[in-house]
Amino acid sequence: MINVAIDGPAGAGKSTIARAAAKELGFIYVDTGALYRAVGVYCLRNEIETTDAECVGAVLDKINVELKFIDGVQHVYLNGDDVSTEIRLPESSMAASNVSAIPSVRAFLFDLQRDIAAKNNCIMDGRDIGTVVLPNAKVKIFLTADPEERAMRRYLELKEKGSTVSYDEVLEDLKVRDYNDSHREIAPLKPAEDSVTHNTTGKTLDESIKMIINTIKEKM
Ligand code: DC
Repeated sequence: MINVAIDGPAGAGKSTIARAAAKELGFIYVDTGALYRAVGVYCLRNEIETTDAECVGAVLDKINVELKFIDGVQHVYLNGDDVSTEIRLPESSMAASNVSAIPSVRAFLFDLQRDIAAKNNCIMDGRDIGTVVLPNAKVKIFLTADPEERAMRRYLELKEKGSTVSYDEVLEDLKVRDYNDSHREIAPLKPAEDSVTHNTTGKTLDESIKMIINTIKEKM
């Protein structure tokens, strides 16, 4: 199977770009952040403190997370419930970032990610795909952009969905998540040594998509 790993901070455009590239190549697109978000949503629903490793670790055996691909679109199920919309709420983002720093949570989601990659040609995006989950991925890309631009993209996306959150709040949340994701002890966000870094600041989505597809085709 051919596996492509795309890692990078929140709002760098990973999901939109990876989805478009997957479509072009006929691969499935796997958004691994959705898995951490589903665990975060479980904790929020059950009032479990997402920064408390012991409490979160103790409920993992009550959590079943599944990914299903319907017409090429990924749906996330938490104990049988489709939570694909709920996982995108801002509170779910922070909960995901918090639970993702807990080693037992990462171990819990590891096999699921590896299984999907073993069975499918896929583009998988996340924070540690090239470094930890798929160290032998054929292509590894580290996608980034300046925080202000990433926050603006995220803000516009949320606003379009009817959210009343302010740009400043989005920027602040993003900086906290960047810090958490790149400073945690386990599988921190960082480029894999053999990755190609692309910075999408100032680039249109189309330009970024073309750039990534070219890199993937060259490496394949
Ligand atoms: O990509 P995202 O914003 O949906 O991810 C949500 C959180 O999950 C993010 O703050 C960090 C965590 N995450 C991770 O630790 N490892 C991954 N492979 C994907 C996401």
